[in-house]
Amino acid sequence: MANIRHPIVDVHTHVYLPQYAAELRARTSAPRILNWTNGVKTEERLLILDGEPSGGRPVGPQYWDRDEKLEFMRRHGINISFVSSANPWLDFLPADRAQTLAHELNNNLEEYCATSPPAEGFSGLKTLYGFGLLPLVPDVEVSAIVQAIEYLKSLPHIRGIIMGTKGIGKGLDDSALDPIWDAIQAARLVVFIHPHYGVDSTAFGENDNGHVLPLALGFPFETTIAITRLILSGVLDRFPDLRLLLAHSGGALPQLSSRLASCIQHDPIVANRLKHDLRYYLGQLYFDAVAYGPEELTFVSRTISRASAFKNGGGTIDPVVGSSRLLFGTDHPFFPPLEASQKWPSVESNLAAIRGMPGVDSKPEHQANILGLNALRLFDLHDQVYT
Ligand code: URA
Ligand code: ZN
Repeated sequence: MANIRHPIVDVHTHVYLPQYAAELRARTSAPRILNWTNGVKTEERLLILDGEPSGGRPVGPQYWDRDEKLEFMRRHGINISFVSSANPWLDFLPADRAQTLAHELNNNLEEYCATSPPAEGFSGLKTLYGFGLLPLVPDVEVSAIVQAIEYLKSLPHIRGIIMGTKGIGKGLDDSALDPIWDAIQAARLVVFIHPHYGVDSTAFGENDNGHVLPLALGFPFETTIAITRLILSGVLDRFPDLRLLLAHSGGALPQLSSRLASCIQHDPIVANRLKHDLRYYLGQLYFDAVAYGPEELTFVSRTISRASAFKNGGGTIDPVVGSSRLLFGTDHPFFPPLEASQKWPSVESNLAAIRGMPGVDSKPEHQANILGLNALRLFDLHDQVYT
């Protein structure tokens, strides 16, 4: 093991493809990209929500230019990235436009990846792979979404699908989504579940705290609620081979999983609904390692490893076991440094968190899994390099 070079693989990294950015520039309400003048300086800003704090955020080529992505990867020693469109995907579009744009953006992303350089030192692999988009909006026929999944499966560099929390309008616990989960499971595409809306912003008060509360709390709570609803609706019982990757280490789900399990056990409406204790399902999910701290990652890993105890009535609670479901990510191009610096502190802290995880810090082979090998296995690319 010691002599083999292992890749660093980023599973949480975004792009606003040029055609998507053009769509946002043509809009007059959020989500949109607008020109913003501050004194003599004019810059483009991205406004993803109405009433977004601080008038959105400045955007530039790092959001759409592939060379910027590759340079960012080079600078941080990242060998391979699984790139996804950033929020809010196609959520705001009417059905026809969402369908057309999904198809075009998926082709564009396939091209973006297919023409990327080979991953140096990892023969047969490219530097870039992608998560495609589905036209997940009300009024699109479910059969058309299933067709889009089959089309994505035919694109060799698209290995998964990025999805928000709205489903086709009613959330991820909507039983109308069953044919979609079924098709995704059959196609072996990985679903990356990512937040956009946060929680009701009145909870954040009136002080200007920039983006801190919506990003640090709103995003993870949105994911926590969405995935809990999905589990409660029995999706993971009906589709046990579905591979769901949760953004931001699953938000608060690991921390709240025993409380949720207890509430389920004491609720006459839900008590007998699921096949397993809620904590079991954590062992069916994948979590990105975008948590920024070693203790938090070890905690997530321990709650994942604990899942087997709820299947067999026993089992080891060991952060090494759970680490097979943790995968390095950066969230690029978000969280750039406030002051010019070669390396991004947001990335460095995620790398340091993996290397410093209590219980995993003395085990380089398990760090190599989180840093890249788990991703190659999840996306069925491992055998291409390590046979
Ligand atoms: N990270 C994202 O993925 N999206 C945002 O809007 C902000 C941070
Ligand atoms: Zn993200």
